[in-house]
Amino acid sequence: MPSLLAEFGGRTTVDLHLETHYNTTTTMTCTPIDLTRPLEEDDPELCDIIKKEKKRQFLGLEMIASENFTSRAVNDCLSSCLTNKYSEGMVGQRYYGGNEYVDEVEKLCQKRSVAAFHLDPEQWGVNVQPYSGSPANFAVYTALVEPHGRIMGLDLPDGGHLTHGFYTSTKKVSATSIFFESMPYKIDPAKELIDYDKLEETARLFKPKMIIAGVSCYPRHLDYRRFREICDQNGALLLADMSHVSGLVAAKLTSDPFEYCDVVTTTTHKTLRGPRSGVIFYRRGQKGTDKAG
Ligand SMILES: Cc1ncc(COP(=O)(O)O)c(C=O)c1O
Repeated sequence: MPSLLAEFGGRTTVDLHLETHYNTTTTMTCTPIDLTRPLEEDDPELCDIIKKEKKRQFLGLEMIASENFTSRAVNDCLSSCLTNKYSEGMVGQRYYGGNEYVDEVEKLCQKRSVAAFHLDPEQWGVNVQPYSGSPANFAVYTALVEPHGRIMGLDLPDGGHLTHGFYTSTKKVSATSIFFESMPYKIDPAKELIDYDKLEETARLFKPKMIIAGVSCYPRHLDYRRFREICDQNGALLLADMSHVSGLVAAKLTSDPFEYCDVVTTTTHKTLRGPRSGVIFYRRGQKGTDKAG
């Protein structure tokens, strides 16, 4: 593609003779923008900051379990022409034209997501559109729990995540606790394990619409079967937020949430080492009912 500067004969400013089109004698001078310049030339100040961050990541050691390093191929995708496209809606049903290749990308992503977790596409559907894990969880609550409906998640200080409903006595810290009513469950301080018996007892009183089985800081397998039993006692839905361990689930190195859960969410940038994004898996059909009713 020829550079705009070349089009303007190498001049860095151009006179616009407006009298040709408008009844005026004004001549404006403007600087043509060259859209083909690399960042280094186009915005050296920003480029310099990015270089410093790259060096920091390369030389530093941060033990942040939520983070990972993507591959060159992932970075290539992220800085591709796909960023230019609006693609609201679903595959084949977009609000804008020109989505034929974005549809191909999304279908490929759906197919690979289901395959990565060894799922049968007849039983599990997938939405690969969330921007990250937090909006994925919020989308699930919005779809399946009515406003101010009740949810239960592991308390943040016990290893849960903000989006599972965290609040303090003075502040509703997470948007989840503003728009939904949450009651935390906790670990048994003596055993440092999730107190499933206490969860069962509290759920019987609180009657949540959804229980969230998911952790940000809990180095043990989750007992999804027990979560399922507690949900079934109370007619609650079971959401697994496997964000932290999805790589281990894919590799079958930890307990499998798909066996017992109705919905499973994950980020893609932690153990999966992908781009910053989120995925929602949903069990097809209604719980306990087939398509024929
Ligand atoms: C269990 C869990 N769920 C959800 C999230 C939120 O993901 P994101 O930061 O991509 O919104 C995190 C982030 O660390 C997490 O640990």
